[in-house]
Amino acid sequence: MDKKWWKEAVAYQVYVRSFKDSNGDGVGDLKGLISKLDYLKNLGIDVLYLNPINTSPNYDNGYDISNFEDIMQEFGTLDDFDELIRELHKKNMKLIMDIVINHTSHEHPWFIESRKSKDNPYRDYYIWHPGYNGGPPNNWGSFFGGSAWEYDENSGEYYLHLFSKQQPDLNWKSIKLREDIKKMIKFWINRGVDGFRMDAINHLAKDFTFPDAEIEEGKAYGNFIKYVQNLPEVHEYIREIREDVFKDGYHVVIGETGGISYHNASIYTGTSRKELDMTFHFDMNGIGFGKNSWEKRPIDLIADIKEKMSGWQRRDESEGWCPLFYSNHDSTRTVSRLGSDNEYLNESAKMLALLQLTQKGTPFIYYGDEIGMTNAKEFSLEDFRDIAIATRYRELVETKLVSEENFLKGLHITSRDNSRTPMQWDSSDNSGFSCTKPWIKVNSNYKYINVEQQLQDKDSILNFYKNLISIRKAHPAFIYGSFKELNHEHKEVYSYLRELEGKCFLVIANFFGKTTTYKIPHNIVMKEAELLISNYEIGEDVEFDYTGDLELKLEPYESRAYLLKNQP
Ligand code: GLC
Ligand code: CA
Repeated sequence: MDKKWWKEAVAYQVYVRSFKDSNGDGVGDLKGLISKLDYLKNLGIDVLYLNPINTSPNYDNGYDISNFEDIMQEFGTLDDFDELIRELHKKNMKLIMDIVINHTSHEHPWFIESRKSKDNPYRDYYIWHPGYNGGPPNNWGSFFGGSAWEYDENSGEYYLHLFSKQQPDLNWKSIKLREDIKKMIKFWINRGVDGFRMDAINHLAKDFTFPDAEIEEGKAYGNFIKYVQNLPEVHEYIREIREDVFKDGYHVVIGETGGISYHNASIYTGTSRKELDMTFHFDMNGIGFGKNSWEKRPIDLIADIKEKMSGWQRRDESEGWCPLFYSNHDSTRTVSRLGSDNEYLNESAKMLALLQLTQKGTPFIYYGDEIGMTNAKEFSLEDFRDIAIATRYRELVETKLVSEENFLKGLHITSRDNSRTPMQWDSSDNSGFSCTKPWIKVNSNYKYINVEQQLQDKDSILNFYKNLISIRKAHPAFIYGSFKELNHEHKEVYSYLRELEGKCFLVIANFFGKTTTYKIPHNIVMKEAELLISNYEIGEDVEFDYTGDLELKLEPYESRAYLLKNQP
């Protein structure tokens, strides 16, 4: 058992832009965040993970950095940042910073230099290529729609951008670039940052022969994935950073790795590889999404949830540690995707929280999930802000591949703006997020889904989270214990044991909005079992002084955790 601070922590992801606005410009900022640290500490949070806060023209909300060593003006100053670190450390909390090193903003001085001429010293910091037959070098389509190449009039060549054209990809073959990036990471380490999330890290290397890619049905461009993801050189680059920058083993290094699952994550996190500590995967992102973006499909508990979540749980520790999360700034809201965002909001949000906080790994609670914030159901096309939407609109609606009606339906199901709406602090105007109109519309349900109301209600989702976090911290079995799934074939109930040094816990969760039954396996001794937490009032029927099989009747989304007193 290799103990680490970041294995024992409960983390919380803050989308700073939407968390708390302190100066009335409609954009969240560092001072706003600082004013809410007591709230987070009181909830039991140990670590904050912040989405990018560096200087940026914000075409992609900070994922397009124009100065790595300063703070985005809208968010504050380096002094504010130092204050944030000081305040966090005073409270015994820690900070994980997002660093975006696969690409920069097109306004970064390196790119401004690079595009000046073919012999500029910064030319090879980016990926330039002559065109082919009067068009781009190949047929690759970017993640955000449209071609992955942009023509530069001035030098007569194209540059590669996996994301928007305002995010040119860096050329990691350049030794000078790698030295500059390592220097930049050290800059933040010296300011006290405790860990890093490395954006899009498994795209650092590309196939420099740039072959055309296969065009899938209904798409306008080739799918470049196998030429730009998980190529062997990526590992060399990550190891180089690790060796040079993170020698002392204190910091936590997490990679964002699309296309990685529990089957192959160890190529990054295997402890002998000395690359990453954890990988943010995309396993939970598309659950319940249909084949077309405007269609939903029912969740298959066994294939969608159990196989994946338990898959991560069952890995050997030598394969690496994992983060526990359902949502982030690139997905939709947890309850809307995996639970119920109307009738059973309360019950389903608690059920999901119970699973998240009783499994093995480091929980990352996405801001607002602790009060059950939902998708932005009433957004019209104009209310969406994501840069990817405009390009996809052009690619799909303007070419009549998809109707506008279906496009909008699709956004309501899949758009990442759903999970970027302002934090719902109270029922006052703009949900207490700001005194002015926010950069993105507040979800109108803030009148009844908000922090202030839930702090007062002892049965709220918020208090359930708080309670769960303290239970997790009281019992190391939830952190370092073994994991054993029960009744894998049950189509409605997810259930498992966590055990460490003779202390055994049983978790039972009805994953759906209808009643069901669950037979506790007969080798589990429920005599004198102690109910630790549940999202329903549990009546007299659960006295475990019996012999033989016990069948529980579970209400919609009903979930419980027990401490087993007599388990051999
Ligand atoms: C990552 C980020 C996402 C961003 C993209 C480009 O996937 O999580 O928000 O748009 O990288 O940086
Ligand atoms: Ca502000």
